[in-house]
Amino acid sequence: MKALTVALPGREYDILIERGLLDAAGEHIRAVCPSARRLFVITDGNVAPLYLDRVEGSLKAAGFETAAAVLPAGEETKCGPMLLTLWERMMEFGLTRTDGVVALGGGVIGDLAGFAAATILRGVDFVQIPTTLLAQVDSSVGGKVAVDLDHGKNLAGAFWQPRLVLMDPDALDTLPLPVFMAGMAEVLKYGCIWDGDFFEFLAARPSREALMADIEHILYTCCDIKRQVVMEDERDTGLRMILNFGHTVGHAFEKAGHYTQWSHGEAVAAGMCVAARLGASLGVTPADVPAKIENAVAALGLPTHISCDWETIVEAVGLDKKSAGSRISLILLEKMGRAVPVKMEKDAVLRTLEAVYKG
Ligand code: NAD
Ligand code: GLY
Repeated sequence: MKALTVALPGREYDILIERGLLDAAGEHIRAVCPSARRLFVITDGNVAPLYLDRVEGSLKAAGFETAAAVLPAGEETKCGPMLLTLWERMMEFGLTRTDGVVALGGGVIGDLAGFAAATILRGVDFVQIPTTLLAQVDSSVGGKVAVDLDHGKNLAGAFWQPRLVLMDPDALDTLPLPVFMAGMAEVLKYGCIWDGDFFEFLAARPSREALMADIEHILYTCCDIKRQVVMEDERDTGLRMILNFGHTVGHAFEKAGHYTQWSHGEAVAAGMCVAARLGASLGVTPADVPAKIENAVAALGLPTHISCDWETIVEAVGLDKKSAGSRISLILLEKMGRAVPVKMEKDAVLRTLEAVYKG
């Protein structure tokens, strides 16, 4: 088993990575929640038929009483009304402050279940059992939990760290290929922002089979990077912003596609390509880096370019007239494996971005 510790003062927790771990969930949760009697499991309609029985069986074998909410799969589930439903269901179940919540699923379930745990009874323990690649390398670690509002994604939320993160790489075998590859965009991002050798390692494995052969190492490396960033800047006021490399333009792509045409991962993949070219044109990023990223992105079948109306990009990057100030902070690559925030005059960024994006 591979293990990492997120050492936050008073809220330290482990990330455990092992094939078959779903069947041992109960004993690991018992070790961190010794006095809990009840666990409320939140999952979705795709994950439940695959893994819920195994996880609930393991929880029961460890002496927990369980109830499960099986929610519709998809981003629409991560909403305020669903949160209210969960609060009522948890009370019906008899959840107390010493009990806990288990998130079994992708980032949608992790974010929603985490926010439900953060708010029910003013906060109970929760355990993340992420089952998508994106959730394993990103959303299950770091304590950002949220629901979406009509005004935008993740607008109501909290920082609420899990008590434990249990990662079973075997769960990734049942992912549809596009969902697996969407997670790979975030995996590549870690190489870009933090570890150039890791980027090369990934670039040399341009297929799902090759990546799965080394999946424990990949999960461990990504979680180790995220862990270090979160320990340095839990509340996202400094270093943590480097995790947004490629995400600003990516958000424009997601919005332009009405959040249905492009997955988050596809949008981030194309966003990283734009950010790399922008950085090179601004003289921050070495000239060979954009092609390296584009090649790695394309090899995984992810888009290197997404067509989007210019106004949406300008607004997403904060270069529109409504955005205050004459300077803007961008996350750019100083070299492969090192992202830095760079403050620049908006006018110069706007001109360069236009040249880069419109070609
Ligand atoms: P998701 O949770 O919607 O899962 C994608 C699809 O895969 C769903 O249809 C799901 O039912 C299915 N699925 C999950 N596990 C499966 C498995 N093992 N086998 C087969 N199918 C499976 O999407 P996601 O990409 O995991 O997460 C996206 C969400 O994560 C977004 O809401 C995003 O805002 C959030 N997010 C949060 C953070 C954070 O730090 N909290 C970071 C990144 C993303
Ligand atoms: N996914 C970005 C963060 O956790 O900060």
